[in-house]
Amino acid sequence: MKTLGLYFSGTGNSKYCVEEFMKAINEETHLSSIEDKNVISLIKEADSIILGYPVYYSNLPLILKDFIKSNHQLWNNKQIFLIATQGMFSGDGSGYCARLLKEYGATITGGIHIKMPDNTIDVKALKKDTIKEQEIIEQAKTTAQKAAKLYMQGNAPKHGLNPASHILGLFGQRLWFSRMVKEYKDHPKINRDKCIGCNKCVSCCPMQNLSLNNDNKAIHTNKCTLCYRCVHTCPTQSIALLGKQVVHDQSTLIK
Ligand SMILES: Cc1cc2nc3c(=O)[nH]c(=O)nc-3n(C[C@H](O)[C@H](O)[C@H](O)COP(=O)(O)O)c2cc1C
Ligand code: SF4
Ligand code: SF4
Repeated sequence: MKTLGLYFSGTGNSKYCVEEFMKAINEETHLSSIEDKNVISLIKEADSIILGYPVYYSNLPLILKDFIKSNHQLWNNKQIFLIATQGMFSGDGSGYCARLLKEYGATITGGIHIKMPDNTIDVKALKKDTIKEQEIIEQAKTTAQKAAKLYMQGNAPKHGLNPASHILGLFGQRLWFSRMVKEYKDHPKINRDKCIGCNKCVSCCPMQNLSLNNDNKAIHTNKCTLCYRCVHTCPTQSIALLGKQVVHDQSTLIK
């Protein structure tokens, strides 16, 4: 059986969790981001898929939702296990994606919610100290490994897939925040006084939302999927998204 570890990961958390899960599975395994060139052929070849992604407001990043929808024919008859990573709470971060994939003929074999450091590094209220964040990552690794073991035994966990979780996700978040992930956004905020024109944000953006202007300063359009990758990548902390400025460093957490 061919199993594909598939992910969208703005800042590395979801990739890390899928990697740890896949390492614990003793089968022929492949790993791919939805951004990779050969991802479609890898999905076609796979019998089963481990799909990892970050939860945004008990919903999916729009880039992933669009990928699932625009490739809807790929999911028919696939066995899919979901890994939803989150900073704190989603209710049904896995359930929301499960319902979408089921519409396209997939069988959901299970799902887990894994707590990882919140990647919104410009929102002070959500930040924890680095030692605490390292503990969270260690715990996430254990959770992924345990889930993989249960998955291999045919007893995969089913976090977030029941009706009670659906209600929590809906009333806890989706009803109030759905506008945040309904359309691509006119973001991020760029402090051009601090920008040194290094191009790193331009190269890493999965939406090709950034470019350099004639003054060698970063500018954006309106295609932002809120992934925070540019915010984490900028060497001069010139980019912010939900907050005003970067207040925390997560660059050394996942190696
Ligand atoms: C726009 C946005 C919305 C988020 N919403 C939630 C949320 O509703 N609940 C939660 O627990 N974490 C939330 N987070 C935190 C991320 O889900 C979490 O840090 C995730 O592990 C990031 O994964 P990645 O590094 O693979 O992108 C949000 C992050 C962003 C950027
Ligand atoms: S502009 Fe930044 S936050 Fe928005 S999609 Fe691109 S990398 Fe992600
Ligand atoms: S990564 Fe930062 S410094 Fe480099 S071009 Fe982008 S905004 Fe400017």
